[in-house]
Amino acid sequence: MTRVIGIISGKGGVGKTTLVANLGSILAQRFKKEVIIIDCNVSTSHLGLYLGMYYTPVTLNQVLTGEAEIEDAIYEYHISGLRVIPASLSLSDLKGVDIARLKNSLKNLFGKADIVLLDAAPGLGREALATIRASDEVILVNTPFVPSTMDIMKCHQVANEIGVKPLGVVLNMVGKEKYELTMKEVEELIELPVISSIPMDKNVLRSLALKMPVVLFSPNSQSSREFIKLAAKIIGEEYEPEGFFFNILKFFKKK
Ligand SMILES: Nc1ncnc2c1ncn2[C@@H]1O[C@H](COP(=O)(O)OP(=O)(O)O)[C@@H](O)[C@H]1O
Ligand SMILES: [Mg+2]
Repeated sequence: MTRVIGIISGKGGVGKTTLVANLGSILAQRFKKEVIIIDCNVSTSHLGLYLGMYYTPVTLNQVLTGEAEIEDAIYEYHISGLRVIPASLSLSDLKGVDIARLKNSLKNLFGKADIVLLDAAPGLGREALATIRASDEVILVNTPFVPSTMDIMKCHQVANEIGVKPLGVVLNMVGKEKYELTMKEVEELIELPVISSIPMDKNVLRSLALKMPVVLFSPNSQSSREFIKLAAKIIGEEYEPEGFFFNILKFFKKK
């Protein structure tokens, strides 16, 4: 069975695209799942940029105009076998795009992947709503601050009204500063469990500059460990990352 999971948020810049690229990579590479990640933020697309995929002649845009089949917009990324459906980076390719076609277009992927991750546009506009409607489940991405939390409360409400199952909240860019909302406060406000707490980590920004998900560029970094734990949780597998010192000892044992 193919699970379609929408990665959504009310506010932009909270880490949706980062989460999609990292979860997709780890589910494909480490957990050997068939994964397709799709940039559903067609008006301000970033997923291809994050992966260094610039030359993609067929994109989701052509699928949504009816000019192409979704299978023709699939590209393989990295030896992990992760597959990506990017959106066009060109403004002119928005002409004729009908985001309402998204849900139907995905039907051709059923049975061809274990997991499809949808990278949503922020907020509750047409693109974001179409992504929620096309999902079986959603993960709500938030930061430990009031504005994004206010917005994600609305997203949760809308997801409930549409009838999509929320898997929980990913709290990203956590700095454990006194002025941040705590995990408990976020859970109470959104009325959903926090399924992952990802630290603010410079390696995420470094990896962006290298156009490579942090889990591939720096798998032992703090953020990568959390991405891996979350990926395991989503597919119901137990995973406890090995400690830093364990890895050092393992390295010397090989010598
Ligand atoms: N845990 C993190 N630590 C540091 N920087 C992060 C983290 N998560 C995301 N970022 C950075 O924040 C910015 C916005 O992330 P992005 O994934 O594009 O958000 P969204 O897709 O929700 O707009 C990017 O520059 C990204 O590299
Ligand atoms: Mg994004």
